[in-house]
Amino acid sequence: MDRSTELQDSYGRRIRDLRISVTDRCQFRCFYCLPNGEPAMAKKDTLLTFEEIAYVSDIFISLGIEKIRLTGGEPMLRRGLETLVGSLAKLKNGTDSAFKDLALTTNGFKMPEMAAELKSLGLDRVTISLDSLDRDNFVDITGVDKLDEVLAAIKAAKSAGLEPVKVNAVVVRGRNDHELVDFARFALSEGISMRLIEFMPLDSGHEWKREMVVPGREMFETINATIPLSLKSESRGASTAWNYGFQESGRGEIGIIAPVTEMFCGACSRIRLTADGQIRTCLFSNVEHNLRDVVRSGASRAEIVDYIRGVTLTKEASHHINDSDFVQPERTMSFIGG
Ligand code: GTP
Ligand code: 5AD
Ligand code: SF4
Repeated sequence: MDRSTELQDSYGRRIRDLRISVTDRCQFRCFYCLPNGEPAMAKKDTLLTFEEIAYVSDIFISLGIEKIRLTGGEPMLRRGLETLVGSLAKLKNGTDSAFKDLALTTNGFKMPEMAAELKSLGLDRVTISLDSLDRDNFVDITGVDKLDEVLAAIKAAKSAGLEPVKVNAVVVRGRNDHELVDFARFALSEGISMRLIEFMPLDSGHEWKREMVVPGREMFETINATIPLSLKSESRGASTAWNYGFQESGRGEIGIIAPVTEMFCGACSRIRLTADGQIRTCLFSNVEHNLRDVVRSGASRAEIVDYIRGVTLTKEASHHINDSDFVQPERTMSFIGG
């Protein structure tokens, strides 16, 4: 690809990773995301259609996007998701396309019934949320009694070849930090990548407090004291996680994601599109950019490219979670996608 066409922000960061939320809806009620009932949802006619999502994705890809991740809400609740996966996967075949990785973040609920079809349509891999290995604690955290279903989802994703399967746990003080070593054992026995994430202030209840954050360093030390870990690479590039292997086995991995205590914004390569067609240049943006209206106004492809380039130039240098005047964004994670 011609470097001059690539998408860059005003800090010289190249944007290579597009995250698209396809719905705000979710059947789970994870307290770190949607604790107080569902916030008002986007009206149906404001949702981008699959055709619109594929069209703007094609434009983003022409600007050098390499990875697309479908998120939500729970993306598998969007009816016909397989149609969208199929049309996005086709974009991997473009002659000058750098796009090679189509992933999905899900609570796993519908994975057993959909995994094989999604794989055959061109989905590369999935990330599944699992915040507790204990049934009662799982219910306490997610609001639903579905631990067995999520465990089945992980197995289904693996057997469908949606690999590497990554599993996300948001680790919160007093809720599931006593399970850190169990998560590591699970990663080891299942041969999956278990990603332990610091709690960020993106919950609809606005209940986030600094004391609830378990620092990534502490997660590492807690596990390492029982199951020795070894860092896989000294550099993490634009990715979010420090990845560790287990000294006792080649199977499984721990990824520690520490956006609060070890901010990784300086190498950020991400841009986001909400289900209702708003570009968010950062998880913590306080402004959104209405791509949907631009597309629906009949703008030409060149005009849409200019719009996206302009918006990208407004990407924030970093989040401000650690500043005393930090203001939590209005939209919660259920709207923005992980
Ligand atoms: P891959 O490397 O493509 O697998 O993706 P990833 O490392 O970004 O992982 P994933 O999409 O599973 O994100 C894991 C978690 O990291 C998310 O659920 C968020 O909690 C957090 N996260 C992801 N992207 C960002 C980001 O841009 N900023 C911050 N602060 N946190 C992020
Ligand atoms: N802090 C950190 N990660 C979060 N996620 C959702 N809400 C939060 C939060 N407040 C992540 C979870 C989930 C993904 C969709 O987003 O890991 O797997
Ligand atoms: Fe990028 Fe914003 Fe996340 Fe920082 S908080 S890594 S700038 S999206």
